[in-house]
Amino acid sequence: MAAAVTVVAVSIILSGTAVPPVAAATVEHTFVVSQVNMTHMCNEIPVTVVNGQLPGPTIEVTEGDTVIVHVVNKSPYNLTIHWGMVGEGPCSGGQNFSRGLYDEFSSGSTINGKLGDLFNCSGVFEDGYVLDVEPGKTYLLRIINAALFSEYFIKIAGHKFTVVAADANYVTPYTTDVIVIAPGETMDALVVADAAPGRYYIAAQPIQAPPPDTQTPEFATRGTLQYTGGVTNSSRADVVAPEMPHEHDTIKSFYFHGNLTGLRHRQRAGAGARRRASLRHARAGLHLPARPQVVQERDEPKSNQVIANMNNVSFHDATATPILEAHYYRRGGNGVVGTAGLPDHPPSAFNYTDPALIPFGPVEMRLEPTSRATVVRRFRHGDVVDIVFQSTAMLQGDSNPMHLHGHDMFVLAQGIGNYDAATDEAKFNLVNPARKNTVLVPNLGWAAIRFVADNPG
Ligand SMILES: *[C@@H]1O[C@H](CO)[C@@H](O)[C@H](O)[C@H]1NC(C)=O
Ligand SMILES: *[C@@H]1O[C@H](CO)[C@@H](O)[C@H](O)[C@H]1NC(C)=O
Ligand SMILES: *[C@@H]1O[C@H](CO)[C@@H](O)[C@H](O)[C@H]1NC(C)=O
Ligand SMILES: *[C@@H]1O[C@H](CO)[C@@H](O)[C@H](O)[C@H]1NC(C)=O
Ligand SMILES: *[C@@H]1O[C@H](CO)[C@@H](O)[C@H](O)[C@H]1NC(C)=O
Ligand SMILES: *[C@@H]1O[C@H](CO)[C@@H](O)[C@H](O)[C@H]1NC(C)=O
Ligand SMILES: *[C@@H]1O[C@H](CO)[C@@H](O)[C@H](O)[C@H]1NC(C)=O
Ligand SMILES: *[C@@H]1O[C@H](CO)[C@@H](O)[C@H](O)[C@H]1NC(C)=O
Repeated sequence: MAAAVTVVAVSIILSGTAVPPVAAATVEHTFVVSQVNMTHMCNEIPVTVVNGQLPGPTIEVTEGDTVIVHVVNKSPYNLTIHWGMVGEGPCSGGQNFSRGLYDEFSSGSTINGKLGDLFNCSGVFEDGYVLDVEPGKTYLLRIINAALFSEYFIKIAGHKFTVVAADANYVTPYTTDVIVIAPGETMDALVVADAAPGRYYIAAQPIQAPPPDTQTPEFATRGTLQYTGGVTNSSRADVVAPEMPHEHDTIKSFYFHGNLTGLRHRQRAGAGARRRASLRHARAGLHLPARPQVVQERDEPKSNQVIANMNNVSFHDATATPILEAHYYRRGGNGVVGTAGLPDHPPSAFNYTDPALIPFGPVEMRLEPTSRATVVRRFRHGDVVDIVFQSTAMLQGDSNPMHLHGHDMFVLAQGIGNYDAATDEAKFNLVNPARKNTVLVPNLGWAAIRFVADNPG
């Protein structure tokens, strides 16, 4: 099983076809979750699947439809199903399961579950995903990064993408030869089949922060875009390969994400007004600088582990009492699940993105003491909340995707280095920021977001 899975789903756009308005419908599915044995990366391993399929089934809906899904759990694990544009791989409450996936393998990549011909088991090349196209047609690719860790460059030799949506929100059409996508992000892109008929690789290349960051062997994967009627030679040598960016080219990711802006005229009237209001009237908002992804000595087991924290608080698995329940009944104690708020600011300021902090040692560790807790941050309904996510150089300078459940975030600005309100607030895009549910905090940089707390829960 590949730890990193990139899924590309494809549908054809019939040029010039207007989509008629349709009445809201109820769409009903049954998901049977089970564990099957699959061969991946030369080993047979157990995989949790929905309805026997990997990737799982597609739910096709029109905005406004009601979706009812009956979930039958026939797997040996307690599980949750995550809804909302994100492919986080098979969700599972089982610690063993997640750990097993990581340890076996940490480095394979797939497109629609297929490893592709960069990988071979005993000399036999693996199957790759094949996208058949007809010359002259335009295709809409819906790309989901379902990987656990890796951000990817995606290219198709000889073709360009026009990115039209990200995280299910329209963006100003952006034409590029490379798509950069972080775990949990989705991109919708148009590809015109306008090259010479033949075969072209669709390649996905993992990105990682350059040394002195820890380097992990990570493998690219590729599928093929092939023109109907245009393939006269089945030799692999005949497939045109794209020139991929270097795996350390993190600035390419920074620029790609910086170039995404929201498409203004396609907002529905109500949403548009709410959006304008929330963009202009941020005075009710809170600033919540937070720093993901650092390292700490963890008290149990007695060893150093990589853990993430925000403003000195790291995650505590609150399995005993669900967070909402604990909050509602004010169950606290031992800092396990508390009603204490997540602090507004990091308790101590330091040069967060100084690369000298990357070779992590005892000096750096003292900069980031961490308490484990599940803390709650309260907002009033309608509050407009600003958060600055500041990444740090501690151990890992990798970019961090931050996901907010149940809300879209306006991406106001991003930058390299340390956020400085005095100069950076002036860079906020309050005109047409991209709306995302997963925001990439750049490698050794920051991202400022704003959201409206209008979805109680
Ligand atoms: C999967 O493989 C394991 C070990 O070989 C075996 O015990 C198990 O029965 C298999 N499961 C299925 C569903 O075939
Ligand atoms: C699943 O959850 C139930 C109820 O919380 C618990 O008793 C059981 O031990 C859990 N099973 C696993 C495999 O974690
Ligand atoms: C799950 O992990 C626990 C703790 O590491 C271990 O005791 C247990 O045997 C594991 N269970 C399975 C099914 O691997
Ligand atoms: C297949 O992979 C093995 C190593 O796993 C390598 O030695 C061999 O050259 C590869 N075969 C081909 C045809 O690339
Ligand atoms: C197919 O392409 C390969 C590599 O370009 C070439 O060596 C081979 O002769 C071609 N075969 C045919 C039947 O054209
Ligand atoms: C957009 O991308 C170009 C390079 O392709 C870069 O020069 C420019 O700074 C980017 N814009 C933003 C706002 O990041
Ligand atoms: C933070 O570290 C960087 C890299 O060493 C350095 O260029 C910058 O001046 C430092 N900033 C401050 C405020 O010390
Ligand atoms: C951060 O958390 C650690 C561990 O609980 C604690 O000792 C320390 O006092 C906290 N630092 C601040 C500034 O709150």
